[in-house]
Amino acid sequence: MALRDRLAADERHDEDNDLAKVYRERLLEEIDVDELARLSPAQRRVRLERVLSRLLSVDGPVLSARERGALVQRITDDALGLGVLEPLLADESITEIMVNGPDDVFVERYGKVERVPARFASAEQLYQTIDRIVSQVNRRVDESSPMVDARLPSGERVNVIIPPLALDGPTLTIRRFPTPFRMGELVDKGTLDVTTASLLGACVRARLNIVVSGGTGSGKTTFLNALSGLIPDHERIVTIEDAAELSLQQGHVVRLESRPANVEGRGAVAIRDLVRNALRMRPDRIIVGEVRGGETLDMLQAMNTGHDGSVATVHANTARDALGRLETLASMSELDLPSATLRDQINSAIDLVVHLERAQDGSRRVLEVQAVTSQRREEYALTPLMRFVSEPLGPDRTVAGRFVPEPVPADLLERLHRAGETVLTASAPAEPAQPAATGGAS
Ligand SMILES: Nc1ncnc2c1ncn2[C@@H]1O[C@H](COP(=O)(O)OP(=O)(O)OP(=O)(O)O)[C@@H](O)[C@H]1O
Ligand SMILES: [Mg+2]
Repeated sequence: MALRDRLAADERHDEDNDLAKVYRERLLEEIDVDELARLSPAQRRVRLERVLSRLLSVDGPVLSARERGALVQRITDDALGLGVLEPLLADESITEIMVNGPDDVFVERYGKVERVPARFASAEQLYQTIDRIVSQVNRRVDESSPMVDARLPSGERVNVIIPPLALDGPTLTIRRFPTPFRMGELVDKGTLDVTTASLLGACVRARLNIVVSGGTGSGKTTFLNALSGLIPDHERIVTIEDAAELSLQQGHVVRLESRPANVEGRGAVAIRDLVRNALRMRPDRIIVGEVRGGETLDMLQAMNTGHDGSVATVHANTARDALGRLETLASMSELDLPSATLRDQINSAIDLVVHLERAQDGSRRVLEVQAVTSQRREEYALTPLMRFVSEPLGPDRTVAGRFVPEPVPADLLERLHRAGETVLTASAPAEPAQPAATGGAS
């Protein structure tokens, strides 16, 4: 937006804010709060809209029907819901909402971040919205707990951090529930090619242990969901997450979610406790949303003691880095194990690493699939099964390239054959990365 347009928009916003403020106060004077409390949420909205429309028609400014509708909606959103966030939450194309203080609101659409004209009337109003969100999950944000993770009733993950830790005002990050794409849809979107998808399908059915790695927002959870969708329907699956995001379609799924401490600092249940508990639940598969700490060791031990076919995600920059990260995370358990022992655990537990990346144009893609071929205490050795080879960025700044399959190592091939899986080995010509050429992460 040009500076002049921005200033004009700012001015309009200030006027709108003043008007909304005046009528919000008038509304509060007019309504009977006790009566309102007895109504259902839908009835409440209708009641507020009616009172507001009456107030506006008596002494409001001259507004077009559209302007008046928008004002009424805005004030009722403020009074009942999450204020200026409501229209953003209602917009399906938005995948992330980022509020950096009352005046700066950004959203992510189709993988790209943009500023939107929405803004809060004041820091006070932003605090009210934050309170409304965190009180729903029985938490509190204040000086003594200035960082909180919460969830909206519709499931969205919310992170809140306030001053003095956040220097520019209360900061809110809302992550939309990731769309549960199936593997076929990810192929259609160009996240991976069909050959790799069918190889991964065989690996899942043959009960290999798989780690999905990638940076923040690279699509790990989405991929984990699609991968888990390939688990045969008769198996008992236990999923373990910090904030339940996975949505599996199979018939026999038990979902576990960790819990932070309550306001008094009690009652926390860590991912680690859930992994240990899951082992006593006769799982065929354990799916860990993301390993972040000492639970990594429990997960590796589970994978090494008969709970194969498990899948987890880890935050890492490359497939190799993922193994290093697992080692660091596993060393965070209280069992102070030497590095060589941890390497032994990882080499025996992990069969495959699928590494994802969020590219410059916002698209998400499988960059490499690597088999772990080192054994026991050896240094990690990875053998690529597929690599994405990108072309130089063109003038439209979209990422294009090819998924290049590599020969599957004999050991792995043998294991897949024993499990009754046949896979296409890599002598076929590489497939082009389909929608990458037309671009976009949509
Ligand atoms: N393959 C894909 N194609 C297009 N969009 C995708 C793809 N994978 C994920 N997304 C979108 O990207 C966003 C982030 O996805 P997701 O939550 O799966 O990432 P993540 O790596 O698990 O993030 P985090 O690091 O926060 O856990 C979501 O809005 C999701 O719908
Ligand atoms: Mg995730």
